[in-house]
Amino acid sequence: MCGIVGIVGERPVAERLVDALKRLEYRGYDSAGVATVLDGKLERRRAEGKLFNLETRLQAEPLAGNIGIAHTRWATHGAPTENNAHPHFTDGVAVVHNGIIENFSEIKDELIDGGATFATQTDTEVVAQLLAKYRRDGLGRREAMHEMLRRVTGAYALAVIFSDDPSTIMAARSGPPLAIGYGDGEMFLGSDAIALSPFTNRIAYLQDGDWAIIGRKTAHIFDLDGNPVERPVQISSAAAYMVDKGNHRHFMEKEIYEQPEVISHALGHYVDLIENRIDASAVGIDFTKVTSLAMSACGTAYLAGLIGKYWFERYARLPVEADVASEFRYREIPLSKDAAALFISQSGETADTLASLRYCKDEGLQIGAVVNVRESTIARESDAVFPIMAGPEIGVASTKAFTCQLSVLAALAIGAGRARGTVSPEEEKRLVRHLAEMPRIMSSVLNSIQPKMESLARELSKCRDVLYLGRGTSFPLAMEGALKLKEISYIHAEGYAAGELKHGPIALIDENMPVIVIAPHDRFFEKTVSNMQEVAARGGRIIFITDEKGAAASKLETMSTIVLPNVDEIIAPMIFSLPIQLLAYHTAVFLGTDVDQPRNLAKSVTVE
Ligand code: G6P
Repeated sequence: MCGIVGIVGERPVAERLVDALKRLEYRGYDSAGVATVLDGKLERRRAEGKLFNLETRLQAEPLAGNIGIAHTRWATHGAPTENNAHPHFTDGVAVVHNGIIENFSEIKDELIDGGATFATQTDTEVVAQLLAKYRRDGLGRREAMHEMLRRVTGAYALAVIFSDDPSTIMAARSGPPLAIGYGDGEMFLGSDAIALSPFTNRIAYLQDGDWAIIGRKTAHIFDLDGNPVERPVQISSAAAYMVDKGNHRHFMEKEIYEQPEVISHALGHYVDLIENRIDASAVGIDFTKVTSLAMSACGTAYLAGLIGKYWFERYARLPVEADVASEFRYREIPLSKDAAALFISQSGETADTLASLRYCKDEGLQIGAVVNVRESTIARESDAVFPIMAGPEIGVASTKAFTCQLSVLAALAIGAGRARGTVSPEEEKRLVRHLAEMPRIMSSVLNSIQPKMESLARELSKCRDVLYLGRGTSFPLAMEGALKLKEISYIHAEGYAAGELKHGPIALIDENMPVIVIAPHDRFFEKTVSNMQEVAARGGRIIFITDEKGAAASKLETMSTIVLPNVDEIIAPMIFSLPIQLLAYHTAVFLGTDVDQPRNLAKSVTVE
C-alpha cells in the first residue's frame, strides 16, 4: 500500500509527479503529498483525501522545482490527516515511504531521549529524523542513508531528497517494489512501471536490500553492505495511457462487462482451440512429478485459489493445501520437496503472498505464480508464470481478475490431470470445449440479467446483513459474493458452506436477513435445496441463484430466483460470478458509495 514516485528532472516536476501518482492511486487514496527542492530549501504541498484535493491545493499554491518526490497514502500508523501525510520533513530531509518500519517505536524513543521532537504519528518520520541526526553528526548524505538503512527493520520502499542536493534522489527497497526509470537527461523512480510509463519504458527493478543514488543521467545501485550492484534495464510493456471508463459509470462496471473478452484472451494462451486440448507448453510445471500442491493468496485471489483446490483435487487427483497467505507464511507447514506451490495474485506484489512464496522457495519447492502483472515481484521470483491477461484492473473490488484467475486455474487443473493420466484425452476435449464456450455464455448472461439484478439490488440496499450459501465450488463463490458486497456497499455479509448453516448461522435467520443461495443443478443441488428448506421454514427470505434445471426442480417460494443457463460444472463458478458481481455493484450504486475506491481499502497491499 502507498504509492511513491520521484523525478530528477530538467524542468518542473510537481505536475508530472501528481500525474504519476494518479496511476498509483490503486495503492491507497486517503491523503497525498509532493515535495521539491528549491533554492536550497524543501517545499511541500499535502492534502487529506483523494488526489484531487492535492491537485486543487497545487493549483492554488503551485510548487516549483526540478527535483521532487510524491506519495499517495494508505494509512498504517497515524490517522489519514494532512499532518500525517507524506512527504515528512526533518531538518532539510524529505522522505516518502511505502511499508512499515517495524522498530520505529524503539528508534523514536531513542531519538526523543536525544532531544528530538516528532511532528507526526507515523512510523515513517523516524526515517527522516534518523537521517537528519546522522547529518548533524557529520555524516555525508550517502553515509547517512547507509547508516539509516542499517538501523531500520521492516518493510520499505523509500525515496529521500535533501535540501542541500538539488540533483539527487536516494531510494531503498526492502519488501515493497521500487522501479527506476531511465529517461533522456532525466531519471524517475516509482512503485511500479505503470506510474512511470508516460516518462519512460526503460526500467530497472531494485531487488530486496538494494538502495540507490539517482542522479539526472544515471543511477548507482548498492546492496545493503554498500557494494555496487548492477540491475538490468528492461523495456517495460506497461501502457502509458490512463485506462478510461468508456461508457460505464464506474471502472468496476466496465470490468464486469469486459469479462467475456479478457477471458477469451486468457484462454487463448492456455488452450489449443483447434485440437480442444490444453497447450502443454503453457503448463510450466511438471505435474507428473508433483505429489501435492500448496496454494496461497489473499482476498479475492485466495477465494479463486479455493475454487482451484476443488479442481486440482478432482481432475488432477492432487492433494491441495490452500490458505490465506497471512496464515500460510507463519504456519511452519511441513512441505514435501515433491510438492509444487502456486501463488495467486492480481498485482503480484501482495506482501503476505510474496512472503509465502519465499517460504516455499526456501523449502525447495517448484514455484508457480498466477498473476496479472507480469513484471511484478511475485512473477519475477517464480519458476513458472501463468499470466491471467485480464488487462489493468482499476476497481479496487476485483471482478475480471477473479474470473480470469479461475479460467487459468481450470486450464491448469485440466492440464495437470492430463499430464498425470487422471483426465483422459476424451475428458480433456469435453472440458476444453466447455471452457471455449464460456465467453459466449458470459456475454449472453451479462446482457440478460442486468435489469433483474438492479431491481434486486434496490431491495438488498435496505438490508443490514446478508448471508450467502453454497456447496462445492459454490461455497468459495458464496464467500466471494459476501466479500464483494461488504467491500463496496458496506453491508455486513457472510459466505458459508450451506452444510454449515445449522452449525451457527441459522440462528440469525429471520424475515430481515436475505439468504443468497448459489446452487447450479450439480451433484450438490438436492442437499443445498434441503438447506434452503431450513431457511424457508424459519421465515428467511431466499434469493436463489440457479440454472434452468435447478429452477425447474425447486418448488420453493423465493424472494427472487435468478435463472442462468445450464452449464458444465467446470465453468459454473465463472458464470455464477456474474450475478454476484452485478448484485454487489448495483447495491453499492444505490447506496451511493465510492464504488471504485471504497473506504479503507487499497488494491495492492504491500504491508502485512
Ligand atoms: C486487496 C484487494 C483485493 C485483492 C487482494 C489480493 O485486498 O482489494 O481485491 O483480492 O488485495 O491482492 P492481489 O493483488 O494479491 O490479488
